[in-house]
Amino acid sequence: SRETAFIHAILSAGVVHGLTEACSGGNLTVCSCDRSQDGKLTSEGWKWGGCSDNVKFGVVFARHFVDAAEKESSENRDVKNAMNLHNNHVGRLAVSHHMIRSCRCHGISGSCELKTCWRKLPSFANIGNYLKKKYAKSVQISVKARRKLRRRGKRKVLVRKNDLVYLNKSPNYCVEDRANKIFGTAGRLCNKTSPGPDGCNLLCCGRGYNTQVITHVERCHCKFHWCCYVTCRTCKTIMEIYTCK
Ligand SMILES: *[C@@H]1O[C@H](CO)[C@@H](O)[C@H](O)[C@H]1NC(C)=O
Ligand SMILES: *[C@@H]1O[C@H](CO)[C@@H](O)[C@H](O)[C@H]1NC(C)=O
Repeated sequence: SRETAFIHAILSAGVVHGLTEACSGGNLTVCSCDRSQDGKLTSEGWKWGGCSDNVKFGVVFARHFVDAAEKESSENRDVKNAMNLHNNHVGRLAVSHHMIRSCRCHGISGSCELKTCWRKLPSFANIGNYLKKKYAKSVQISVKARRKLRRRGKRKVLVRKNDLVYLNKSPNYCVEDRANKIFGTAGRLCNKTSPGPDGCNLLCCGRGYNTQVITHVERCHCKFHWCCYVTCRTCKTIMEIYTCK
C-alpha cells in the first residue's frame, strides 16, 4: 500500500542520513568527510573546501544493507520485490538530491573575496516532509509489470524514479482486521480539540468517542537538597481523557 511504500522510503532515507552524519562526525572508522573536491575552483569563482557530508558512502551502504532483504529471495523475485527496491531507492534519492550547499566567506572583514563551500545534509525533517508529499502523490503500479514498473491502467507508462509506488489500495485503517494485522482505531486516545490526525474527529472515523475522568498522579514540586537527594510531593490532577468508540 501507499503506507508500506512510505515506510520503505523513509527507512532507507534514515539509514543514508544517519550513516552520512556519523561519517562526518568522525564516529566511524570506515568513512569520513568527502574531501575529494576540496581546492577545486568553480566557474562561479568559489572553491570547494571543508568537510562535505559524504552522502555517496551513505547511499552505497544503504543500497547493500537495506536492499539485501529484497534480494535474498532471488529465485522468485516478483513485482513486490521490485516495488520495495524502487521505494528504497526513492528514499536514498530523497537525501542525495536535497544536499545543501553551505558556504563561508573569507577575505578582509568578511568581504567574500574568497568563498569556500561544502555539501551539507538536509535536516531529516525536510526529507520527511518531502517523502510525505511523495506519499500523497504515490502511483499505483500494474501487477503484471516484471522488470520495469509501469503505471496501472497505463501499462505503457513507466513510473518515474522518484515516484513512490504501490500495488494495492490502502486498507481501511479505521476498522479492526486481525487477518491483516490492522488494529483499527477503537480504544485509541484522541484529542478532542485537535483538528489534526490525533483529533477525535479524524482518528475515530466518525464513530464518536468516550470521555473518561481520571486522576493523574505525578511527582511535583521537587527540590534538590545538598547533598544529595531530591524530595518531591505528589500532585493529583483530575483530567478528562477521550478514547475512540
Ligand atoms: C557520534 O558519537 C557520539 C559519542 O558516542 C554520539 O553522542 C553522537 O550521537 C554520534 N553521532 C552520530 C551521528 O552517530
Ligand atoms: C490537543 O490539541 C490542541 C490543539 O491542537 C493542543 O493545543 C493541545 O495541547 C492538545 N492536547 C493534548 C493533551 O495533546
